[in-house]
Formats: sequence, C-alpha cells, structure tokens
Amino acid sequence: MNRDSRNASHDAGRFITFEGGEGSGKSTQIKLLARRLGQAGVDVLTTREPGGSPGAEAIRHVILSGAAKPFGADVEAMLFAAARQDHVARMIRPALDAGRWVLCDRFLDSTQVYQGTLGKVGTRTLNALERVAVGATRPDLTLILDVPAEIGLARAAFRRAESSPDRFEGEELAFHQQLRDAYRELPQQHPERCMLVDAAGDPEKVADAIWRIVAARFPASNRAPERARALA
Ligand SMILES: Nc1ncnc2c1ncn2[C@@H]1O[C@H](COP(=O)(O)OP(=O)(O)O)[C@@H](O)[C@H]1O
Ligand SMILES: [Mg+2]
Repeated sequence: MNRDSRNASHDAGRFITFEGGEGSGKSTQIKLLARRLGQAGVDVLTTREPGGSPGAEAIRHVILSGAAKPFGADVEAMLFAAARQDHVARMIRPALDAGRWVLCDRFLDSTQVYQGTLGKVGTRTLNALERVAVGATRPDLTLILDVPAEIGLARAAFRRAESSPDRFEGEELAFHQQLRDAYRELPQQHPERCMLVDAAGDPEKVADAIWRIVAARFPASNRAPERARALA
C-alpha cells in the first residue's frame, strides 16, 4: 500500500489496534511494542477500549460490571459505540492529527466479534453505530492475537487472582472458543488490515513476531536502533 491509498484521514500518525480473546496478551504486547517504538524514536499513545477517555471510562464500568447485560446485546453495542465516540474524538483523532502513533487495546473488531458474531446484533445496526462512533478514523493495522481459548482463560484467571471475572470473562468456554473462531476469520475478510499473530509462545517471542509485522508495514518504525533494523 502506498501512502496515498492508505487511510487519508490521518496523514502522519499510524493507528494500530490489538484484538483477541481474554488473556491473549493484548495488554502485554501493547506495552512491549510501545517500548520498541519509543526506542525507535516514535511518539506513541497507548490506550484501551472500552474506555481510554474520561467519558468512555465511565461507560466502561457500566459495561464490564455486567449492569447492561440484562438489556441485551443491542444496548451493549450502543454503549460501546458511545464510549468509542468519546474516545476517538478526545484521544485517538487528536493524537493521530499530531502525528503520534496510537496503539489501542481493542477497537471496532471487538464489537464485530462480541456483539455481532456472538451477540447477533445485525450488520446494519453495527454499521450505523460504527459510522457515528468513528467516522473515517480506521485502524491502519490490526494485530489479532490468537491463542486457544483454554490458554487465554487460564492466563486471565491467573492475572486477576482472587477478584471475580468481568462481564465477558465470565462467559463459558464455548463462548470463548466461538470468539476465537470469529477472530480467526477477520484476516480473510480484511486481508489488507488484519494480521493473525500466534500468541501462544512466550511474550518476547510474540513481541518479535509483532515487531516484524510492524516494521515491514511501516518502514519508518525501523529508523533507529540496530536491533530494530536487524529484525526488520
Ligand atoms: N505470551 C504469554 N505467555 C504466558 N503468559 C502471558 C503471555 N502474554 C501475557 N501473559 C500473561 O497472561 C495474563 C494475561 O495477559 P494480558 O496481556 O493481560 O492479556 P489481555 O490483555 O489480552 O487480556 C497476564 O498475567 C500476562 O502476564
Ligand atoms: Mg488486557
């Protein structure tokens, strides 16, 4: 893809989203990529959904506590869209316009998979919400971290120790297996944007695979350190 054919709505910044099931390593890998990009001289904003801005963090609590679950997947999808609108307008868009790289833990594809494929919210509804929530601000690259559901859930359980699972972690194993299947289909639907990453190895190995993808996609990211150049 050359520069002109890419998302014209943000010129200098790059927008990379991380997707995958619970415990697939999104938060871990965002930190590792942000560190490498920082070492390469890139100005990075890391953020997450639902949340990422004060308004959206308030909505995050409503969603992840399960308070909205009784109202159904349509209502949950609208809440995610409301949170996303605030997050894009206040955080993501301004950062991209300023030339920063934005690494976001979950974005549009989470809605497609959780509320669409699993929640059965219709495509027309999701598309309408998407238009309102993000407009033209689309990811340049989406990394889908792929691990068997059992492994992801075991990692997530270890991470949260004694506290109780959130709204989505609390779903049964079959739900998480369907999630994984839905995520694995995304690269076929969006081959230009979505890359599947085997996330079952140790974190440094996964980070190396991600770095190779990012450096190949955005050559500017391998400007600086020797190690980055060697990996590119
Ligand atoms: N590649 C990995 N191998 C083993 N454990 C991992 C790996 N990546 C992350 N973890 C651990 O698994 C847990 C969940 O990882 P996290 O990055 O929070 O996943 P996510 O954000 O996708 O839910 C954390 O305790 C983290 O330290
Ligand atoms: Mg996380």
